[in-house]
Amino acid sequence: MKKITIFGGAGQLGAELRSEFSARGYRVHVFGRSKADITNAAEVEQALAAFDPEIVVNAAAYNQVDVAEKEPTTAFQVNALAVRNLAVACRQSDAQLVHFSSDYVFDGLGGRAYREEDEPHPLGAYAVSKLAGELYARAYLDRPLIIRTSGVFGPAGLETARGNFVEMMLRLAANGQTIRVVEDHVASPTYAPALAARAVDLIERGAHGIYHLGGGSPISWYDWAAKIFAAAGLHPPLKPTNEREFRTAARRPKYSALSNAKSESLGVAPMPSLDDAIQLYLKIRASRLSQRGAIAEGASPRP
Ligand SMILES: NC(=O)c1ccc[n+]([C@@H]2O[C@H](COP(=O)([O-])OP(=O)(O)OC[C@H]3O[C@@H](n4cnc5c(N)ncnc54)[C@H](OP(=O)(O)O)[C@@H]3O)[C@@H](O)[C@H]2O)c1
Repeated sequence: MKKITIFGGAGQLGAELRSEFSARGYRVHVFGRSKADITNAAEVEQALAAFDPEIVVNAAAYNQVDVAEKEPTTAFQVNALAVRNLAVACRQSDAQLVHFSSDYVFDGLGGRAYREEDEPHPLGAYAVSKLAGELYARAYLDRPLIIRTSGVFGPAGLETARGNFVEMMLRLAANGQTIRVVEDHVASPTYAPALAARAVDLIERGAHGIYHLGGGSPISWYDWAAKIFAAAGLHPPLKPTNEREFRTAARRPKYSALSNAKSESLGVAPMPSLDDAIQLYLKIRASRLSQRGAIAEGASPRP
C-alpha cells in the first residue's frame, strides 16, 4: 500500500485529496499548517522522516492575490521558497513531489485556453511566486508532477477563512446589495473533488512534468456568478463590470482558461460540466449546513 503525505490538508483541495487517496486504499498522512508549516524546512523534513512516503503532495498555498501586492515576501515564502523545502526533502528521501500551481502564471493575452507548452508571463506578486514554486520543484527534482488549476471551489471552502467564489457570491446575495462582477475576464472554475480525482489519476498513470486540470468550461466571472445564483434559486441584483471600472491591487490575466487536452490524452476523464459541479457543490453545502444546525441544536440547553 503506497504512503502519501499531504501538506495543506485543511484547504479546499487538500481535503478532497485526502478523501480521494483514502478511498483508493492509500495510507495517507495529512498535515495542516498547525502540524507542519511548509516554510519551515525542519518541520517538512521531520514530517517526511516520520512517515517515509513514496509521494508528497503540496496542496498548501498563499492564495491572496491582491494582498500579495502588499506582502510579496509572504507570498514568495509560501508559494516558492517552501516548495524548495519540499523539493529538497523529496530529493533526500527519494519521494515524488506533486505540486499545484495556477492559471495566473499566464498573462491572459492569448484569448484561448492555455496549453502546458505556452510561455508563462506572470502579472503580479502572487503569480510570480507560483511560477517560482514550479521552477524550484523542477530545479531540485527530475520527475516532479506540477498540476496547474484555476478558480478552485470545493466544500471545504465552507469552513476555511478564505472560502471561495461561490461562498463570496452567496454572502453578497444575503447582504442584499448590488453585486458587480467582471465580464471581461475568463477562467476555468474547477470543482475541487473533480480536480482531486483527476490529479490522483495522473499520479497513478506515472505522469510527470506540467499538466493542466481546469474546469472544462471557459466562462467569465460574471456568467459564473449568474450560474451560481440560478442554481441556488436566488435573484440578487447582479450587474456586469469590467477591469477598467473594477480596479484591484493585482493585475490579473484576462483569459486564463486551461486546456486539459494533455491530461485527457493520458486517459484522464474530462471534467464534469460547470452546471453539474455547482449542483453537486450546493447539495453537499446544504447537507453540511444542516449537519452544523443539528449539532448546534444538540448542543443547546433543553427546556
Ligand atoms: N483557490 C483558487 O481559486 C486557486 C486558483 C488557481 C490555483 N490554485 C492552487 O490550487 C492549490 C489548492 O488551492 P486551494 O483552493 O485548496 O487553497 P486553500 O483552500 O486556500 O488552501 C490552502 C491551504 O494551505 C494552507 N497553508 C497556507 N500557508 C501554509 C504554510 N506556510 N504551511 C502549511 N500550510 C499552509 C492554508 O492554511 P491556512 O488556512 O492556515 O492559511 C490552507 O489550508 C494551491 O496550489 C493554489 O495555489 C487555487
